Amino acid sequence: MSNNDLAIVILAAGKGTRLKSSLAKVLHRAGGRTLVEHVVRSCAPLKPRETVVVVGHQAEQVGAVVGPLGAVTVLQQPQNGTGHAMQVAKRAVGRAKFAIVIAGDAPLVRTETLKALAATHHKGNAAATILSAVLADPSGYGRVVRKSETLVSAIVEESQLTDEQREINEINSAIYCFTLEKLWPALAQAKPNNKHRELYLTDAIGVLNAKGETVLAHVAADPREVLGCNTRADLAEVDRIFREWKRSALMEAGVTIQLPETVVIDPDVAAGEDTIIEPGVQLLGKTKIGMRCTIRTGSVLADAILGDDVTVEPHCVVTQSRLDDRVIIGPFARLRPNNHLKADSRIGNFVELKKSTIGEGTKAMHLSYLGDTKIGAKANIGAGTITCNYDGFHKFPTHIGNKVFIGSDSALIAPVRIGNGAYIAAGSTITENVPADALGIARGRQANKAGWAAKRRRELAAEEKPGKKSRTKKSKPRKSARKRK
Ligand code: UD1
Ligand code: MG
Repeated sequence: MSNNDLAIVILAAGKGTRLKSSLAKVLHRAGGRTLVEHVVRSCAPLKPRETVVVVGHQAEQVGAVVGPLGAVTVLQQPQNGTGHAMQVAKRAVGRAKFAIVIAGDAPLVRTETLKALAATHHKGNAAATILSAVLADPSGYGRVVRKSETLVSAIVEESQLTDEQREINEINSAIYCFTLEKLWPALAQAKPNNKHRELYLTDAIGVLNAKGETVLAHVAADPREVLGCNTRADLAEVDRIFREWKRSALMEAGVTIQLPETVVIDPDVAAGEDTIIEPGVQLLGKTKIGMRCTIRTGSVLADAILGDDVTVEPHCVVTQSRLDDRVIIGPFARLRPNNHLKADSRIGNFVELKKSTIGEGTKAMHLSYLGDTKIGAKANIGAGTITCNYDGFHKFPTHIGNKVFIGSDSALIAPVRIGNGAYIAAGSTITENVPADALGIARGRQANKAGWAAKRRRELAAEEKPGKKSRTKKSKPRKSARKRK
């Protein structure tokens, strides 16, 4: 089969009533992507002349997912069944001779399996070839009725099964290869004889058989590949399988994953050899992790780029940020988007960063907020340092030079610059630039009042003497209290 003869048709117009959702079924996510995106991606390597997605419910949103992947959409309105959906796609498949038709809710199917399906179809010179699977629990699926070891006579939907057919555990995956010049007349002859009065694509199989055409079934080697997503439980199961596959691929590539079933990893994530991922970690989006990193328990990394030998201590959240070699963050660090932590820098517990650059070897170890801030190399940011980057209307930057020491509990009111090698005294509220190598100090001067505390204690003790009226009477304020005013 030359690829120029092949069209892919993805049926994705249905609502997915059984999911009980306001979101169209194929837009639900499993394994880090929408269902329909998985399907389009599995089909793409077949290089068909056209990939047609039949859309209906939330057509625009589905189009927005599949359009950038190179598929065209056709609108099925109303949705009168999978057979009707195929008829709606007829014009868009153009001059293709063959079509692989695939339900948009069958996201686990692999390219190799689709190739094998097409090979069976062509070798057997069939009018239709069904991708089937043998399931321990076939309930909910249409069953493949065979008339001989190789030939199929019909697909019978669950609602129309006889007691005898209910025993069949070979199911229809809703993935097929059709010879189109045979399919179109068969579909035209099929009747919507079911309680929903829909035209089922599966009924075309019976029609083809009755016309003496060859209908084959190609049994999927791994039955998990054909699972459809009709319910939330199906979605959870499919998600579980995707995650398992991804973890296995990373382990294969030399990554240690502890208690792997607790770890969630999106499809585009990469990690280098000897990286260790502890239980309960989530690696999302396009996160890339270098070699020998440790991602400790409970951390969530989304679109994070990590160099080598990076340690993410427990319970950190990192979003769209870059961590260079040997950086250590956490526990309990929060990196909001657009940070760059240069090599050997350290971010400690309860430190929040946003749009900030942390220079090489710089440390901010405790209880800080650093936003819109550029910090040079080998600076020390004391506990509780806050960059006040927002005046209620605008955001302003803070610049902190190399080897700066910011004393604990300082507030830096942006825009402000602290020169190289400067010191900021603890507890300062810095509103003006501090030159290099200077001390910036901005706080009330301390006064010690000699003997004050001892005197106060004597006064209180005198009030407590026995025989005196109880202090707990609330109506009259105490003398000493009045005096103090
Ligand atoms: C379908 C098959 C069933 C098979 C099962 C495998 C039919 C009649 N039945 O049942 O034999 O075992 O898949 O998962 O095909 N769609 C449209 N337009 C419509 C109706 C549906 O585009 O008018 C799309 C849906 O969005 C979905 C796909 O077709 O992506 C399959 O429809 P669904 O309702 O899930 O069919 P099943 O009941 O699962
Ligand atoms: Mg389905």
